[in-house]
Amino acid sequence: MIEFVLNGNKVVSSSPSGLRLLDVIREEFGFTGTKEGCSEGECGACSVLVDGKLFDSCLVALGSIAGKEIITIEGFKKLRPERFNMISDSYAKSGAVQCGICIPGMVMATEALLSANPKPTEEEIRTGLSGNLCRCTGYNMIVDAVKMASKEGEGLW
Ligand code: FES
Ligand code: FES
Repeated sequence: MIEFVLNGNKVVSSSPSGLRLLDVIREEFGFTGTKEGCSEGECGACSVLVDGKLFDSCLVALGSIAGKEIITIEGFKKLRPERFNMISDSYAKSGAVQCGICIPGMVMATEALLSANPKPTEEEIRTGLSGNLCRCTGYNMIVDAVKMASKEGEGLW
């Protein structure tokens, strides 16, 4: 049994400790906003926050997160709605969402970036999102969205 905090609630998982966090949050707890892309730490579609830091949940074993706080895209929306809405509106206004598969991970990476650096330069944005791949947008519209969230959301981070 592994205890941790998931999206603000204390939970206990009965899954094997070697199971991927990605599978636990999607299948045991039903938070399917976290997506599976490459399954090997390359695409960032499975990004979640672990004690406030960005992690690829496909590379994290359940046993390693005992006592930690995990936030998925659903928890981000619930726990920090102003930041969530600022980022999601900025993505929408910038045309940064196409097929959408990368977006939950991009949003979590954006939250991690702006939490650490509320006014990133373009280069810092590109570096901050470099672990998240998008097949559709060519990235420029995503970078614009992060710039917009940073500017219009001044004071939220
Ligand atoms: S599914 Fe985890 S990094 Fe791609
Ligand atoms: S919007 Fe399709 S992969 Fe990013």
